[in-house]
Amino acid sequence: MATRLRVVSGMRPTGKLHVGHFFGALKNWLKLQDEHECFFFSADWHALTTEYATPGEMKEAERDMVADWLALGIDPTKVVLFVQSRVKQHAELALLFGMVTPIPWLERVPTYKEQQQNLTGKDLSTYGFLGYPLLQAADVAVYRATAVPVGQDQVAHLELSREIVRRFNNLYAPEVGPKLLPEPQPLLTEHPKILGLDGRKMSKSFHNAILLGEAEESAKKRLMTAVTDPARVRRNDPGNPEVCPIFYLHKAYSPPETIAMVDRECRTAGIGCVDCKKALLVNLLPALEKHRKARAEVDQAPERIDQALEDGARRANEVAEETMRDVRRAMKLE
Ligand code: TRP
Ligand code: SF4
Repeated sequence: MATRLRVVSGMRPTGKLHVGHFFGALKNWLKLQDEHECFFFSADWHALTTEYATPGEMKEAERDMVADWLALGIDPTKVVLFVQSRVKQHAELALLFGMVTPIPWLERVPTYKEQQQNLTGKDLSTYGFLGYPLLQAADVAVYRATAVPVGQDQVAHLELSREIVRRFNNLYAPEVGPKLLPEPQPLLTEHPKILGLDGRKMSKSFHNAILLGEAEESAKKRLMTAVTDPARVRRNDPGNPEVCPIFYLHKAYSPPETIAMVDRECRTAGIGCVDCKKALLVNLLPALEKHRKARAEVDQAPERIDQALEDGARRANEVAEETMRDVRRAMKLE
């Protein structure tokens, strides 16, 4: 059997889950929960770095997100499932990391300036937003986890986590031997590209996402009006499926024969976009329906959610507290 790693991953509750979340992260969580020791959490403090003005909405999104996790099959008996803010040790370690982290390291993170520019309408010139990577480094180190599932876009954050942990170890545990905290390694995950219905990245802020539990009528309507390859102005114009969001959804939901057919017939104008979309609906709609059913079951027993999160917080606390005892001792804090 392959080595069982300790894996940590978080997701920010900032809105309803969509198929981008599923293929970008949650499908992988389902696989990881059977192979490794997993700590999966709702990153509510991270969400507040951008949603600080509407914490109530954030908490509603969290409830919805965790219910979707359970509906998808994330199993709280296999993984430690919890809410970040219920484990105060994350914040304590992030504070201590702040002592040793030069501000330019934080300002250099590529997503920092980018997000500040993208999320206009929100004042993100805050200390909390700048400190996001510190909290993320602490999320992982507090469990002494060695593996973080990351997509390409998160690699820079993880590299910074490694630098922070390295500096921390050098300062407070310079002797050879087992390190105070392990440097997290990326567990690079392959995930298919999913474009939003307008051809941009699928994101709730662009209103171009298909929700995991989207109602049939709405999914149909939005799919039928979605953009396709703009080169296909007329039915006879050949297209390039690689630039079309419908093709990426086919790759995620349709069987191989259909994917191959679309790949071929789009390029030769053998199939029109309307028929191509209908072929997708045949596979997409049942998947959405399956999720809605599973989700309805979770909603009928909401105490399951509370129970799972309570249990998870307790187990997470135990592990995190053990790490923090060593950290405090190393920093002469106890
Ligand atoms: N930054 C991640 C995101 O935006 C969420 C996150 C917070 C996370 N802490 C983490 C992911 C620790 C992995 C490990 O999706
Ligand atoms: Fe997109 Fe299908 Fe139209 Fe090609 S035929 S442009 S893949 S919708």
